[in-house]
Amino acid sequence: MAAERLQKVLSRRGVASRREAEAWILAGRVRVNGAVVTELGTRVDPAADDVEVDGEALPPEQAPVVVLLHKPAGYVTTVKDPHAERTVMELLVGLERRVYPVGRLDRDTRGVLILTDDGDLAHTLLHPSRGVEKVYDVWVRGELPDEALTRLAEGVELRDGHVTRSARVSGVERGEARVRFQLALKEGHKRQVREMVRAVGGQVANLARISFGGVTVDGLDEGAWRLLTPAEVARLKRSAGGGDPLRAGARGMARPKGWATRKGREQR
Ligand code: URA
Repeated sequence: MAAERLQKVLSRRGVASRREAEAWILAGRVRVNGAVVTELGTRVDPAADDVEVDGEALPPEQAPVVVLLHKPAGYVTTVKDPHAERTVMELLVGLERRVYPVGRLDRDTRGVLILTDDGDLAHTLLHPSRGVEKVYDVWVRGELPDEALTRLAEGVELRDGHVTRSARVSGVERGEARVRFQLALKEGHKRQVREMVRAVGGQVANLARISFGGVTVDGLDEGAWRLLTPAEVARLKRSAGGGDPLRAGARGMARPKGWATRKGREQR
């Protein structure tokens, strides 16, 4: 087998995310053929070299898994939460693989969260140059004029100076002091949707991700998870290869309590 970067081998074997693996290497926790290696560029042949972390041999290679979680509000997207809040990992009941979230959803954002033990796939899906499309269902408090929606689509400057790429706004519904629309982004800046809406003078009241690279939570209850099928994984990979990501609608996403239905009545 060809030699590969050590951190890549560790993440592919599911013992750590690539970033964690880099930290472990720098901390001297990784040995190759008995010798501690602290050089991040080190290449190893997983078939021929003995790699150990903290004195333990790597587990044998398994086919990677890709998990789709329908994240509810109130769960933090992290593997370990130092503040002991509820984490998305607690929802993966029965999954006997160590997976890592592909990017983050804020605690109160619901919807599609992908987790995997395939470090390469995670890296590819998150890389800005891949432009994987994420579609959000956005509920904004108060009014948001058409001009503000146009600015969202054209690009706005966020508080940290980041200027957003062009985006797609669709499905605008206006209710009493509320606006709902879908926003498709090809980048993933921190709290991007909330910050974009703030930049045009609005405030997000509810946010759900309804698609990630064409994968939706249609048919999956909030809080439930399932493995993606090989065909779904292939489609996800295609979405990161400059392909044509599926267009997603808001089907399957529950309205948050208290929000107006199409007829303008409140649901409680
Ligand atoms: N944008 C946000 O503001 N929050 C999320 O959770 C995802 C995208």
